[in-house]
Amino acid sequence: MNGVQNLKKAYPWIQTPLVVGAPMRLISLADLAVSISRAGGLGFIGGGTESDLDVHLSRAKALLAESPIASRSNTLPVGVGFINWGSDLSISMPVIQKYRPAAAWFFAPKSIASLVQWTISTRNASPDTEIWVQVGSVSDALAVVKSVQPDVLVVQGSDAGGHGLAQGAGVISLVPEVSDAVDALVTKEGGYSPVIIAAGGIIECRGAAAALALGASGVVIGTRLLASKEAKIAKGYQDEVLRAKDGGQTTVRSKVYDNLRGTTGWSDSYNARGIINNSYTDAMAGLDEDENKKLYNEELNKGDDGWGVEGRLTTYAGTGVGLVKGVMSAEDIVKEVRQGAKDVLAGLTAKL
Ligand SMILES: Cc1cc2nc3c(=O)[nH]c(=O)nc-3n(C[C@H](O)[C@H](O)[C@H](O)COP(=O)(O)O)c2cc1C
Repeated sequence: MNGVQNLKKAYPWIQTPLVVGAPMRLISLADLAVSISRAGGLGFIGGGTESDLDVHLSRAKALLAESPIASRSNTLPVGVGFINWGSDLSISMPVIQKYRPAAAWFFAPKSIASLVQWTISTRNASPDTEIWVQVGSVSDALAVVKSVQPDVLVVQGSDAGGHGLAQGAGVISLVPEVSDAVDALVTKEGGYSPVIIAAGGIIECRGAAAALALGASGVVIGTRLLASKEAKIAKGYQDEVLRAKDGGQTTVRSKVYDNLRGTTGWSDSYNARGIINNSYTDAMAGLDEDENKKLYNEELNKGDDGWGVEGRLTTYAGTGVGLVKGVMSAEDIVKEVRQGAKDVLAGLTAKL
């Protein structure tokens, strides 16, 4: 299994354990991604399915020009995340070629064949851009490693906020099983053994330390960054992330929110985790979907008041939401998680 040394070579500015900022569509944009990389992490821009990637990467380039970060082969020291089923390869590749981000993160492709196409195209467009693929099961991990040999495999557990496999496992069992299965595959068939990074439910240093103990070489944080100063997020949404506690009870994996918003291209095997509100409880109580959509659209006019338990607007967040205690700068979050994880692990060793 490749690990921290590979990460340090590919991303010479990072400090370990690596803290990665998730590419959250519409929320993780240039300011957040650059702040994370400046703090010694790796920030991803949530390119999602949008075609205005050029705008975000151009902003990242401008921010980085103010005080450059030394990167390998002069790549742009941030990553960019795609939601592949909805992204346009022919629009995305010239942008990758133009900006040469340090990493491209793929998620939810239509098929393995399409993932292969995205990988080959990216490697042609920008050979120094590393390929990251986010997966949520052992079988997907093996299929991805066999077919595209990614540099990094992001193993996403079911506690994660936003989209992921509808049927899944938490990182505590998923990360070690993926790690063993990938090791066995590479031992038997050869090929590249990717670096493994854990995602899902990691909010602070204790979760990060646990993920490292499971065999991950770094951690992705998503939900926690919704409460960062640099996130592009409505106040109503951010306040709701701060308010919600006990995420196992107050969030749910469902397709309801996607259906109401019209973001319906996800395959049946995916849904998304968000904070329970009236959109969900009414849907479960049998409210007709068209009526629910109408109420959702009306709620959009309420601005920040549209979020909340009695609100209806989508509030994607993970089960760790109750551990998010305040809004902080991305730099402070990254440093706190990184140093805190080291302290937790050192403290444990001292106690044993
Ligand atoms: C609001 C939100 C939006 C997200 N958008 C994306 C996305 O566009 N692409 C992607 O690959 N993952 C996305 N994710 C999932 C993250 O990549 C990651 O798996 C997850 O945030 C990790 O779990 P955590 O939220 O508990 O930290 C999103 C997560 C959240 C919370």
